[in-house]
Amino acid sequence: MAENIVTCQKIRKSFPGVLALDDVDFELKKGEVHALCGENGAGKSTLIKILTGLYGKDSGRIIYEGNEINFKSVQECRNNGISLIPQEIHLAQDLTVAENVMMTQYPVKHGKVDWNAMREKTLELQKRIGCENHFTPDTRVGDLSMGHQQLIEIMKAISTELKVIAFDEPTSSLSDDETERLFHLIKELKEQGISIIYVSHRLGEIFKVCDRVTVFKDGKYVDTKVINDVSAKSLVALMVGRETGGYLKEKNYTDISRKVLEVEGLCWDKKVKNVSFFLNKGEILGMFGIVGAGRTETARLIFGLEKKERGRIKINGETVEIRNPRQAVKRKLGFVTEDRRGEGLSTVSSVQWNITMPYLKKLSSSLQTIHHKQECDNAQKLSAKLRIKAASLDDSAGSLSGGNQQKIVIAKWLGAESEILIFDEPTRGIDVGAKAEIYRLMEQLASEGKSIIMISSELPELLSLSDRILVYRDGEINKEFTEVGDLTEEQVLHYAIMKDEGGDKL
Ligand SMILES: Nc1ncnc2c1ncn2[C@@H]1O[C@H](COP(=O)(O)OP(=O)(O)OP(=O)(O)O)[C@@H](O)[C@H]1O
Ligand SMILES: [Mg+2]
Repeated sequence: MAENIVTCQKIRKSFPGVLALDDVDFELKKGEVHALCGENGAGKSTLIKILTGLYGKDSGRIIYEGNEINFKSVQECRNNGISLIPQEIHLAQDLTVAENVMMTQYPVKHGKVDWNAMREKTLELQKRIGCENHFTPDTRVGDLSMGHQQLIEIMKAISTELKVIAFDEPTSSLSDDETERLFHLIKELKEQGISIIYVSHRLGEIFKVCDRVTVFKDGKYVDTKVINDVSAKSLVALMVGRETGGYLKEKNYTDISRKVLEVEGLCWDKKVKNVSFFLNKGEILGMFGIVGAGRTETARLIFGLEKKERGRIKINGETVEIRNPRQAVKRKLGFVTEDRRGEGLSTVSSVQWNITMPYLKKLSSSLQTIHHKQECDNAQKLSAKLRIKAASLDDSAGSLSGGNQQKIVIAKWLGAESEILIFDEPTRGIDVGAKAEIYRLMEQLASEGKSIIMISSELPELLSLSDRILVYRDGEINKEFTEVGDLTEEQVLHYAIMKDEGGDKL
């Protein structure tokens, strides 16, 4: 048995109004990949932020390579071989790859920055992780994909001698290819004897890349298991503290006599090719497809975020021209985007501000002045309805856990009284408990007569929630399933990959 490289004993950390970590223990062995799981708000990010110097702890001990440590900063941790790859990458977008990687350790020659040495060192690091063909040391970081930006964080981490690296939900904004590349890299780091902490909600990934798993719940340590000794079901049970069955749709609320949205012959930039469909009142319409199949683009066109080249959109039977999101909001459309941080949420603003923003605009245009009390009441009501877990509505949205941030985005659209809601990957990065809550919420909204388009890459949730499913392939709707009850994942997947040659094409 390998020895521990890190032992955390009774780590305690509180934030105003929240005990994030309640005397938790955690042990990391040399050269292992150790998953840290738990529902939203369990304290996973907090623990790895403490370990990597981003936060201080209130009490407890961290033993690293046999000695108790008390590193005071990210830099001090990094210099001693402990690094964090955060969930949100914060690189200087206008600087080059080399400048970002060498930020804190510019090589100097004759009193000046040695740019050549900097490029060389960066290229060397690129070669170590096999990305020298994807970009150069001089590439501007803002021009790179999220996956590549993450590689730059990894290069920063390995630029000093690395012993422990913690990944916080590393795949949440990666494509499938980028995810595969990351797994490969993790394997290589492990082979070099580096110890890895892997925080993720995706059980499939945990079973694929991890050796052991530790579960936290509500700031408390629950258990540690060898991955081969645990089933997905029992892992979920540890996380939520109970056995959960699959979520089953209860009832159909669709009013097929009322089409609230009709899309005819929508075309845009080779990514959306002649797309036509309709959405009934009270319906949940699922959209499946592999990444890049055109689902998000369709949603962006409907919402006025992109300008369509051709096609017609009708709302409640009336042809509408939606040129920007403001007009979409006026038409009572809501769009819960895939990228909640980029488009859905202002992380520096308060929970309340985020919830009331579109609602606020509506109030201010009709009433001139904003009614503070009404705004407060509304935010309170929505936050209670969605069970948002925050110490106060004045907390910054960015300080909340991922699942709670997603609920804020949904609350904001409910506050704007949206009637047609488009959810793009609504449960991405959200734990099983919060997922079930979001599902229930979507069902409830449908039962209240709201109409929902649900874009998702997770077949189990699409199959259990959708009334109908449209399968996209290469910018087109390749198949419509009007009966979802007995469909299997394989049947749906088939049409996402293979062209529909059958006679029953749309
Ligand atoms: N900077 C902060 N200020 C105030 N509260 C915080 C802060 N960071 C975390 N918290 C709170 O501490 C608790 C634990 O949060 P943490 O981010 O560690 O959870 P998590 O397990 O990473 O959840 P998720 O899966 O949603 O990312 C939550 O209740 C969260 O709201
Ligand atoms: Mg987290």
